[in-house]
Formats: sequence, C-alpha cells, structure tokens
Amino acid sequence: MSGPNTSYDPVQVAPLHAEQVEAMVAEALAAFAAATSVAELKEARLAHAAERSPIALANREIGALPPQARKDAGARIGKARGQIGAALKAREAEVSAAELERALVEERVDVTLPLQPHPVGAVHPITGLMALVEDVFVGMGWEVAEGPELEAEWLNFDALNFVPDHPARTLQDTLFVEPADGGLVLRTHTSPVQARTMLHREPPIYVICPGKVYRADEYDATHVPVFHQFEGLVVDRGITLGHLRGTLDHFARAMFGDTRTRIRPHYFPFTEPSAEVDLQCFVCHGDSVGNPDRPCRTCKSEGWIEWGGCGVVNPRVLQACGIDSDVYSGFAFGMGVERTLMFRNDAADMRDMIEGDVRFSRSLVGVAR
Ligand code: PHE
Repeated sequence: MSGPNTSYDPVQVAPLHAEQVEAMVAEALAAFAAATSVAELKEARLAHAAERSPIALANREIGALPPQARKDAGARIGKARGQIGAALKAREAEVSAAELERALVEERVDVTLPLQPHPVGAVHPITGLMALVEDVFVGMGWEVAEGPELEAEWLNFDALNFVPDHPARTLQDTLFVEPADGGLVLRTHTSPVQARTMLHREPPIYVICPGKVYRADEYDATHVPVFHQFEGLVVDRGITLGHLRGTLDHFARAMFGDTRTRIRPHYFPFTEPSAEVDLQCFVCHGDSVGNPDRPCRTCKSEGWIEWGGCGVVNPRVLQACGIDSDVYSGFAFGMGVERTLMFRNDAADMRDMIEGDVRFSRSLVGVAR
C-alpha cells in the first residue's frame, strides 16, 4: 500500500543527495565525452539521460519526499538534467560533425586516379550486321520473321520444290538429326522461313529473315559449317523481277555505299527464273576490267563479286503453301551474313568471326556497337 510520504527517509531517497546527483552528472558528462561515434553516443544517452537512467529514476523519487524537501531536490535534479541535456546536445553536434568529416575524407573519390581499364564488351559483328540488315528492310516497311534452326525436312526441302533425290539432301551436304528417318534436319538455308511465313499468313508479305544455318562444310577461310544468312521474301499482286532488281540495288547501296548489283541466270528449285546476285566490285567499281594496269585483287579484275541467290518465287512453292499463284507472285533472295561482312568490312578470314578475339570485333567499324 502506498500513500504520500510523510516522513523523510534518507535511505530511500539517497539518489537525491547532492553528491549523488553531482556524481550522476559527472558520469553522464564523462560518458558523453568518451563517445566518439553517433552509435556510441546513443548508448551513452540511453544509459545516462533516457527514461531508465539514474537521473530519471532519481527524478521519480521526488514525489516521495516530504513537501519541504521536494523543492530543493526538484531544483537540484532539474539543474542536473539541464546540464546532462545540454552536454548531450553539444556532444551530438560534435560527434555528427566529426563523423561527417571522417566520411568525407574516407569516402573521397580521387577523380584524378588513372582508370583501371575494364574492357567493355561489344555486339558481335555478325549480330551487328544482321541488325543493320534488318534496319534497312524495316525502314521500307518490311517485317522481321524467324524460324527454328532444327527444321522439318519437309519445310527445308519438299515445300521448296526440291526433288526427293536432289543432291543437297545428301549426308554430304546436310546435317540430319537422328533418328535418320525422323524427318528433322539442321536447316541448310533460311528459305524454310519463306514456307513457314507463307503457310501462316496471307499476302501481302514483305519479310526479312536473318538466321543461323548449317551445312556439312569444311572449316577454312571461306567456309564454316555454321553460318548465317538473311532471306528476303515478298509476295503480293503484280510482283515482278523488276521489283527484285530495285530492292537488291537499294539493299546493296545501304550496305556498301555507291554500288549496284547484277543478276546472272542460275537454278534454285524454289524460284523460277532463278539467278545469282553479283555485287559491283566496291573496290574498283569495275575499272579494273580489261585494264591490266589497274588490276583488282578483290574481284580478280572481273568487276563483280558473287553475293547470293535470288529469283521469282516458283508458283509451285506458292501453291504448296496455300497461296493462289494466279493472283499473287513474289520474289525471294538469300545471302550469307559472313560473306557480306567480308566484303563490307574487308575481313579476309571467316574463322575470325567465330574465334571470339575481341580485337577482331573492335576492328570492324560500324557493325560492333
Ligand atoms: N537459299 C538459297 C541458298 O542458300 C539462296 C536463295 C534464297 C536463292 C532465296 C533464291 C531465293 O543458297
């Protein structure tokens, strides 16, 4: 049972004695002075100035004093708390200023230090060139189409009018996927994307299809068994060889600057007529032809270099893909990305394009971004 204290009990209120209070103040001040970080000062505050500190507990005892002693003790404790509070505030300012000062020194960044050169990666020239090609055609309103590298033999050959015993179907040229009679091949060209596109959508079709292709080829300066092509396909009303020629010339100029193309009769099962596309030599522009004084190594003084294949889409392919060949006609072309890169950036050896030496990629201006 507790009630107002009527008798003065010196034991119970010992914390209110002047010496005790002075000692509390001294201890608090010493603890604040000893704290050198905001965290340490927080500890000191909890111990010496917070709710459960000796001075706060002493303050609570005032109420237990007889009325005549309360005023005295109250003044003493009030003064002591004032001293503690002021000391704490002053030290807080000092400690946080010191801490800021330290952080400014310790975390200083010397912008004059020499850089540790971390080589920055780059887009591979093949990827970069494919993006450039896409840009040219997307700029004309075409779309980019893609197909799988593991392809149905039917789409890679049959839908494109390859006869069953066409030499391209032999193991010598084509990588078949086991089981051998499973009807799956690693696509040998991007032309199956033509068939896929025509099967899946209605004309008008204007697509460019970049992608990886596989052939059972040698690995040397001008052949690699895994390489890249881009395929162009247009199917619309009234499409002629003239549209193909114009498109190829535009494309060639976008890739190589001031140049043009020519086409030479050839054979592909899926185009009729078919042609090979030659590029006017971008080094001599034909000046070396019949001019022994100025021979050209790039085109062997022929004035033209072979770039790819093209033709008017064979009506049988349109029919195989469910397109009315009486209403629609189209053209297609396909070129090697590696070959284009060789011409465009004077890269002499295709193997450099696979071996991953970043010095090679860096040297190809304008394709590695
Ligand atoms: N697919 C042919 C090849 O790989 C190129 C080509 C594409 C020819 C489109 C004509 C039309 O050689």
